[in-house]
This record gives sequence, structure tokens and C-alpha cells, in this order.
Amino acid sequence: MPSPLRARLTAVLALSLGALLAVTALVSRPASAASTLNQLAKAQGRYFGSATDNPELSDTAYTAILGSDEFGAITPGNSMKWDATEPSQGQFSYTKGDAVVSFAKARGQIVRGHTLLWHQQLPGWLTSGSWTAAQLTSILQNHIANVAGHYKGQVYSWDVVNEPFNDDGTYRSDLWSNTLGTGYIATALKAARAADPNAKLYINDYNIDGTGAKSDAMYNLVKSLQAQGVPIDGVGFQGHLAIQYGFPTNMQQNLQRFADLGVDVAITELDVRMVLPADATKVATQAQYYTNVVKACLGVSRCVGITIWDYTDKYSWIPGVFSGQGSALPWDENLAKKPDVYGAINTALGGSGGGTPPPTTGCKVAYSANDWGSGFTATVTITNQGPAISGWTLKYSYSGDQKLSQGWNGTWSQSGKDVTVTNTSWNGTLATGASISAGANFTYTGTNTAPTAFAVNGTTCT
Ligand code: XIL
Repeated sequence: MPSPLRARLTAVLALSLGALLAVTALVSRPASAASTLNQLAKAQGRYFGSATDNPELSDTAYTAILGSDEFGAITPGNSMKWDATEPSQGQFSYTKGDAVVSFAKARGQIVRGHTLLWHQQLPGWLTSGSWTAAQLTSILQNHIANVAGHYKGQVYSWDVVNEPFNDDGTYRSDLWSNTLGTGYIATALKAARAADPNAKLYINDYNIDGTGAKSDAMYNLVKSLQAQGVPIDGVGFQGHLAIQYGFPTNMQQNLQRFADLGVDVAITELDVRMVLPADATKVATQAQYYTNVVKACLGVSRCVGITIWDYTDKYSWIPGVFSGQGSALPWDENLAKKPDVYGAINTALGGSGGGTPPPTTGCKVAYSANDWGSGFTATVTITNQGPAISGWTLKYSYSGDQKLSQGWNGTWSQSGKDVTVTNTSWNGTLATGASISAGANFTYTGTNTAPTAFAVNGTTCT
């Protein structure tokens, strides 16, 4: 092929390639792999969530993080409990629960409803009344029909029954079991199914994270409910752990045996407390606990997600209930991520720990030349390693007599040996990590040595 034709063909090819690169540069984003907790969980088909509570929703620094990509699921810590939703018999109050639901909805987060039936946070009218079994059954059914009915279609799941067992695996003695026997659990589940057929119905408890008597009791309960045809979709493992009590025994195997019954499992209220003050050894143990929990969940395909019981020590329930204990969550009291604890969770979810900030200075230029002896096509690719820029000027120099004939994807000019390329009107914006390619044809005689030094906006690039 005569060389002028080849040069023209090359130029045409380079032009189309240049256009292609330009389009690529326009649509390409800086490498934005999943990096937040929920993004990472989502990449593995799970959610990562946080509990919250209504008074905290007026703290805008707090809600900025709660509503961020870190969390894909929200659990109201108190506002769907019985004392909040039916403070007087037959009088339902949804204002606070609705506020949490609308917060989550506005941010595309799912809601875990918590909880339709518990032995705590019951209103006085209910605990001080003396009820026959028939009366209490109808009170229970009416409560669930109303509350789960109100939130129908708006909650992903319900903790229908919370904490039915003692630690030794016997049924807790409370208003429900004392008046109704253990059948209240089936009554509650059936009422919830009738009220919201699409919500996943859970039984939720603490100290069932590992194997043991209490976990066995839950396991047997699920089996027996299934055998009776009672609706049950999931088991919630609260995950209120404390480093001074050791990590739950065989957590992953324990989750797996429930999953093998055909129910979902979820970590619903995770926090890992310690006796204060915190020190490096305790924090390392705590970080390991978080890692273990995340890995146990990810190891079980039916483990649908993990919720921490609020994300910051600022609003943790721990210090108020376990005197002298705390520092249980991955964000500190100033809403700053704790590098070790947050990093452990992030890493266990498959992330890079979240601790490596992106480079904030500099630029990178890759140069290549397609040389046909008397001329060449130069391609330069600029990568912005600093903060986003809205315009760029690239400078470099040749050592021979290279002479610019035509450039694209930038305004090319030459003064002696020095070449300057500035952005076009449409490719000046470069986010951190983003790249842009531009090209030009040159003629030359003698040797065509590639330039090695480049500067963008006056900064020397690597
Ligand atoms: C806690 C709330 O976080 C506190 O604000 C409230 O004072 C008491 O209840 N297990 C549960 C949750 O299922 O409902 C509890 O939440 C924590 C223990």
C-alpha cells in the first residue's frame, strides 16, 4: 500500500477510534465498584441495614448517613411496638412508625417491621387488665390486623413474635403464654399473614445466634409450626453480642440448620458491646466478632441480610441498659466511622475496608504512537488522579522535528517542539479517576522519540 494512502487510512481509523474513545470517555465513570456496606451486601444478594428511632430523625448529620448507601434496610427501634401503636385499647397511632417508613421509602430502603408481639413495651391498659383467653386472643388479633394492615405492602418483613423463649429454651412466662399457652405464636402468625400476605413473617430472639438450648427450642418451634401449617417465613437472630461472653458457638452452622428447614434467616439487631473503656485489644476482638457474623451470614444462602441496632454509639441502647458497657457500633458518638470496626464489616462484605481514600492529587498520561516512517498518530490518555476538574491543558515536548498536522478530541497546537492540547467544549470535565483520550497526526523526518514528560494544568504527571 503506498504510504500516503496508508497514512490517510490510518488517520481515518484513528479518527474513528478517537471518536470511540471520546464517547467511551464521556460515558465512563471513575472505577466505582461497590464500596459502602449496603452496596457490598447488595452485590451478594443481601441487604445491610440499621435500626433507628424517631427522636434521631431530626439530627441531620445522623440522617445523612442513615439515608446513605451504607444502609438498604431500616428497622424502627420503638415506633411500631405495641405501646407506640395502640397506647389505648382500640386507638391506633401510626405517626411515628409512618415517619420511619416514609424516611426509608424516600431513599429506596426496605423496612423490617418490629414488632407485633413482645413481652415488653406493652401499654398499661393491656398489662394491667385481667383477660380471659378469648378476650386476649381477640385483642391480639385486632392489634395485628390493624397494625400489620396499616403497613400492608410497606414492610418487607415483620418480627411477628419477639423473644418467646427463656435462655434455657423453656417458654417465657409472660402475659401471652400465661393466658394463652404457647398457641399464641400460631395465632399471631396467622393474623399477620391475613393482614399482610406479602410480608415475610419472622420470629425473632436473642441468644439463639449459636447452637444451644435456646436455639434448639427455636428450631423445634419452627419445625412444629411448619408441621401444623402455620405461616412462618423467617427466623431473626438478634445478635446482641458482648465480647466478654465469647462468640456464639457454630453460628454459621446454626443459621444453616434453620435455613435447611426452608425459612429465611437474618441478623436483625447486631451490636457488639464491651465493658468500657474501650482499648485496642477489646476493639480487635469486637472487630473479629463483626467479621465472624458477616461471614456466617454470607456463608448461608438464605441469610437475607444484616441489621445493626442503630449505626452509631450516639444513639445506641447499650449504655442505658447494660451499665458500664458500650462502644458497640461501627460509628462513634461523633458519627465518625471507627476504622477498625467499620473496616472489618466492610472487608468481610467483600470491600476494601473503606479506609483507603482515593488519591487526591496528580494525573497520569499514557502516550502511544502509531508510526509509519514519515508520520505517526499520537494518542494521549489523561487520567485525573486529583479532585474533579472542569477543564484541562496538557503540555509535552518532542525532541525531533515532529510537526502537528491535525488533532481531535482536543484543541492541538504547537510552538517549536512544545505541544499543547486543551479540552474541547464537551470533554473538559474529569471526575477523580476519570480518563480522556485525544489524538493527533504528525509528520517527521529523522527519529521519532516518544515524549516522557507531561503536565496537566501545570502539574507534572506520572
Ligand atoms: C430496645 C430499644 O432500642 C430501646 O430504645 C428501648 O428502650 C428498649 O428496646 N431486643 C429487641 C429490641 O427486640 O426491640 C430492643 O430495642 C433491644 C433488644
